[in-house]
Amino acid sequence: MRDLDTPLRIAVLISGTGSNMVAIAEAIEQGRLNAKIVCVVASNPRAKGIAKAQEMGLDTMVFTPDDYAKSTAEVERTMVRAFRNAEVDYVIMAGYMRKCTATLLLAYPNRVVNLHPALLPAHKGAHAIQDAFEAGDKVTGITIHLANMEYDEGPIIYQREVPVLEGDSLEDLETRIHAAEHEAYPWVIGKLAEDKVHLHGDHCVID
Ligand code: GAR
Repeated sequence: MRDLDTPLRIAVLISGTGSNMVAIAEAIEQGRLNAKIVCVVASNPRAKGIAKAQEMGLDTMVFTPDDYAKSTAEVERTMVRAFRNAEVDYVIMAGYMRKCTATLLLAYPNRVVNLHPALLPAHKGAHAIQDAFEAGDKVTGITIHLANMEYDEGPIIYQREVPVLEGDSLEDLETRIHAAEHEAYPWVIGKLAEDKVHLHGDHCVID
């Protein structure tokens, strides 16, 4: 059992902008979150978040679409080796647009966390904000959950509703969703750091 005074060691997985990774890093820097980002993994060399991670002095590991096409298992084995060396406690997906497979999930059972910009099980997939907007939803939101073998599935840790307001553009809704994510994800990781998230059967409870 980890000494709860020591920072939670996390690897953050990204594929794009990395704004949630930055929000997590800022929460740590400002003393709001007792964690340490020991590695940022990008699934794509074009991910803008890589430069941001490097500016913040974080270690990065970058894979290419070709790497995944050749062998996702090998990509994940490489990750797991690096995570074990860095004594990673939790793997935090923050806009990582790849499905995790058994190699990573069995190495970190119930310790791979995903963020999704909708109220799962509604609007799974890569365009959840747009899908909710186009469906005419009046309420959408965000979900933070433990990852399993299915994309955007697994026990839900936390959800927050985000309203779709009259006259919203898609960009307005994206901005509101991202603001909710940037606040909620560091808060939930803080609960993991305090060992206050428990899995009862298929359900997560926050103490
Ligand atoms: C976030 O909105 C996250 O919820 C979403 O990607 C965005 C990444 O933004 N993830 C998914 O859609 C997963 N299915 P960021 O790169 O700026 O953190």
